[in-house]
Amino acid sequence: MSTSVDLCAPLAVLGADVQVPLVSGARVGYAALDYAASAPALQRVWDEVAAYAPYYGSVHRGAGYLSQLSTDLFEQSRRTVADFLDLREDDQVVFTRATTDSLNLLAGALPAGTRVFAFETEHHASLLPWAQAGFPVGYLRAPSSPEEAVAALDEALAVCVARHGAGPRLLCVTGASNVTGELWPVAELTRVAHRYGARVVLDAAQLAPHHRVSVRELAVDWVAFSGHKLYAPFGAGVLAGRADWLDAAEPYLAGGGASRTVAREADGSVAVEWHQGPARHEAGSPNVIGAYAIAAACRALTEAGFEALEAREQYLIDRLTAGLAEIPEVRVLSLFGARAARVGVLSFVVRGWNSSHFSAALSAEYGIGVRDGLFCAHPLVRTLLGSDAPAPSSACGAPDASLPGERSLNAIRVSFGAGTPEEHLDRFLAAVRELVSDGARWNYRNEGGRCVADTRR
Ligand SMILES: Cc1ncc(COP(=O)(O)O)c(C=O)c1O
Repeated sequence: MSTSVDLCAPLAVLGADVQVPLVSGARVGYAALDYAASAPALQRVWDEVAAYAPYYGSVHRGAGYLSQLSTDLFEQSRRTVADFLDLREDDQVVFTRATTDSLNLLAGALPAGTRVFAFETEHHASLLPWAQAGFPVGYLRAPSSPEEAVAALDEALAVCVARHGAGPRLLCVTGASNVTGELWPVAELTRVAHRYGARVVLDAAQLAPHHRVSVRELAVDWVAFSGHKLYAPFGAGVLAGRADWLDAAEPYLAGGGASRTVAREADGSVAVEWHQGPARHEAGSPNVIGAYAIAAACRALTEAGFEALEAREQYLIDRLTAGLAEIPEVRVLSLFGARAARVGVLSFVVRGWNSSHFSAALSAEYGIGVRDGLFCAHPLVRTLLGSDAPAPSSACGAPDASLPGERSLNAIRVSFGAGTPEEHLDRFLAAVRELVSDGARWNYRNEGGRCVADTRR
């Protein structure tokens, strides 16, 4: 099928030519359809990192030329990220390890007495840090529409204010679900939150790789995302937004870089004056390559243009959803309904199939890499599956029962982005159709909690 609209070409990514072995012994080009977990590096990011690598040096702690250069590039990367996110004048960019790290940092910086709100549908990174840091959390039930989400927050905040009066409050909300890919009504939720004096942190781990995120337009107070999902897999992430709570908080880590001066007191103790600004929460030697790679990805995506990238992705989403809709055995998981706006992330189950078995067959027999499990969003996937199954044995995404024929208590997720060629989705749809109609050609068994093709003689 050819496109009737003019779409941009996929962006060049590493691994596009990688061949992988099938269980039959043949080799095929790998179809990477697990972008939501970690996206491949953009070729452009890789090239820019490689060009910088010989000039690599310490950041904020060296008098030499390369240290000065690396320090400049690190700080420039901060400004590139600020432009990419359309931050306000006084906002700051803190480089972290990833979204999980960013949200834990913020959880440790909340003022005493903060009450947090989060929908139970969140990824665990958005769901768990707040209570872990000792704050009361109001978990909001899974809504069945964006409007219901906004109404639920309005009601919860009204009750909270009536009961507890004024005080610091925070809503943590995802921009796009890592399970359904559905877009959340971030601007509307933020309007409601601000009406009650609550602040908002946007988990943009799945949104930023697919859509332009403007902090100014959304009016959120903070945004968090991961480099490895934004085509920059060099171990860095971002927390960006308001400085006041971050500057008033204890440093995330104690150590060099975060401390302005350290002096011995007369009584033998040590007095520390901590930095204000991003350095306060970036103790230790910064990950300059990670930050530089994120900035390179921001530049590459901005230059490619989100309008063009989104148009192409929407075309692929439409093809995928139309193709799956023709297979009656497939049930696509959705909170907001089939017509909801989404990014290139979609989860489904196949009648009569265990999801781990199905995913294993896609890999072993077709060279297609998807993910199966509960996707670190256990409450949401269980709600969507209508199951109150006990948690799988390992924390994140372990197959619940990986033997063919057993009832599936988890789901299959297919996800893609700016580097995905149409052909990968065509192959995926053809493979799903074939597996559903003909079954797997191989036997599978459970090995250490994973479903694998049985190659034993
Ligand atoms: C919506 C969402 N939030 C947070 C995270 C955590 O990101 P990371 O593992 O990069 O810290 C993920 C990862 O899948 C995610 O999808």
